Amino acid sequence: MADTIDKNTLYEGLDVPPLVAAAVALARQNDFPFSCTPAQGRLLQVLAAGREGGRIAETGTGYGAGVAWMLTAVTANTELLSVEADGERAEASRELFTDHDNVTILHGDWREIVPFAPFDLLVLDGGGGGKREDDPPADPTALLVPGGSVVLDDFHPPAEGWPPAVQAGYDAYGRELDRAREYWFNHPDLLTTEFRVHPVASTIVGMRRGDAGDG
Ligand SMILES: C[S@@+](CC[C@H](N)C(=O)[O-])C[C@H]1O[C@@H](n2cnc3c(N)ncnc32)[C@H](O)[C@@H]1O
Repeated sequence: MADTIDKNTLYEGLDVPPLVAAAVALARQNDFPFSCTPAQGRLLQVLAAGREGGRIAETGTGYGAGVAWMLTAVTANTELLSVEADGERAEASRELFTDHDNVTILHGDWREIVPFAPFDLLVLDGGGGGKREDDPPADPTALLVPGGSVVLDDFHPPAEGWPPAVQAGYDAYGRELDRAREYWFNHPDLLTTEFRVHPVASTIVGMRRGDAGDG
């Protein structure tokens, strides 16, 4: 098993928006090492800015770092919905965003977001990513508007070989990343790419193809 890192430490010495700093401080206070990396946060900012006025959803709120990054990029006309399975994290995040009426934090399984679909942007960071056998991947056709995007982080770059083998190994957290890669890359309704946002972490972004006749 490879070493894991406390991602909050990647924020040390960085000048980030105050709400992001507050979310990361909350995560640290609660010994939660899984906040999104600053590089992923900046990507989320860019993706959110492109969906101004739309509806954005996230699975796995954690202590709100990802939501905070996205919130800094949009106006109050953009809806942000995030769901967290852990009650204490959901409550802490709800408090963090209490002054932002366009943010809703749900407590429960990630599927709680389904009735609010379709989304312009969907961040799968806690459920629905298909990285574990007990976490079947979400259906992007049902959850995204045509042209909508899905984003998943923590796809550590393949150590060897391409295309990835379905039988490839597990990462440090016991996840089968290539199984998920296979799904997101081969989904018939998605155009998908992967790029590194950090020397040891890459991100997958997929865009739902237009409906038939859109070209
Ligand atoms: C990687 S962390 C999220 C980090 C957060 N998005 C951020 O930007 O800081 C994953 C979170 O997903 C939550 N989670 C895991 N499985 C879930 C599920 N099935 N439904 C909802 N939340 C889930 C975990 O409790 C954890 O807080």
